[in-house]
Amino acid sequence: MSRIFDALKRSEAEYLDRDLGTPLESITDLLHAAEGRRVQQKLEVLPAPAWPEAFSLSAAQVLRSSPPADARLVCLTEPGSLGAEKFRALGLRLHNIRDTRKLKRIVVTGTAPEEGKSLIAANLALNQARSRSLRTLLVDGDFRRPTLAGRFGVGALLPGLSEALRGQHQLAEVVYKLDGCGLWLLPAGMAPENPLDLMQSGRLAEFLAELETVFDWIIIDAPPLFPLADTTFWMKLSDGVVLVVREGVTEKKMLQRAVESIDRSNLLGVVINSCSSIEHKYYYSRYGRAAMQPGQPTPPRGKSK
Ligand SMILES: Nc1ncnc2c1ncn2[C@@H]1O[C@H](COP(=O)(O)OP(=O)(O)OP(=O)(O)O)[C@@H](O)[C@H]1O
Ligand SMILES: [Mg+2]
Repeated sequence: MSRIFDALKRSEAEYLDRDLGTPLESITDLLHAAEGRRVQQKLEVLPAPAWPEAFSLSAAQVLRSSPPADARLVCLTEPGSLGAEKFRALGLRLHNIRDTRKLKRIVVTGTAPEEGKSLIAANLALNQARSRSLRTLLVDGDFRRPTLAGRFGVGALLPGLSEALRGQHQLAEVVYKLDGCGLWLLPAGMAPENPLDLMQSGRLAEFLAELETVFDWIIIDAPPLFPLADTTFWMKLSDGVVLVVREGVTEKKMLQRAVESIDRSNLLGVVINSCSSIEHKYYYSRYGRAAMQPGQPTPPRGKSK
């Protein structure tokens, strides 16, 4: 884990050396997002817009969600766990950032397969949906390896974004309300032959603009940044990026490349998945509920490179 921190710190130091004259958050601060400090400067809070006639969520198909036993949706099934607590801290951090600037569309990505991007995106969306007055949409933006419909146990073959982009379904027909989760899901749908072509058709930007009028949070589960261009496209359409790294999976070199490739004003933070730091457990046992038994993450496969 220290290697991952080293890589992030080095990147931060290089960044600060550039002296861009912009008082942006440091990566180390972002890593400590869970301990979130309040951002001083606040913008005026505007009233929520009235729901437009064009996109009515009351007509959304309701699906009964029955996540499989290994879904690891801790924010749904273990709200008292350490994992769920960390998502609450991340959510708070995002709310704080939103006090200072527009932040609605959030892309969750990483550098490699199997880092836990989808897992983090799903739990983050569940957490944001806890406040019933705020509507949260979880978008499966990984056309090549979509997993969210399966993770929520609503059937992997649902028509979704892909069908809407092809004009085979209305957008409103492929946004589903997940019963018992408090959130809406826009699944990826059938894998297109060339996802990037479909994404660049121009409709995706329109769809997001439309969805933004009815949702307060739009969490997009994206593929890894490398070697595909899909995520770069998602990032262009988003307000911020959450980068997921996983001990034993994320390579230092790739992480550096990722941090360099993301526009710093868009990088909201880095989530370290499977963090088994003793420090964290100690902290929690002092201040948390004694009876709580935080779930131990699965040991990483192999060492950090
Ligand atoms: N902290 C964790 N503890 C245990 N298992 C985890 C953890 N994070 C992820 N996993 C498991 O690792 C596998 C990959 O997770 P996930 O699908 O979220 O990764 P991903 O980064 O989205 O992968 P892909 O690049 O294929 O989309 C899943 O089986 C998931 O349940
Ligand atoms: Mg995924």
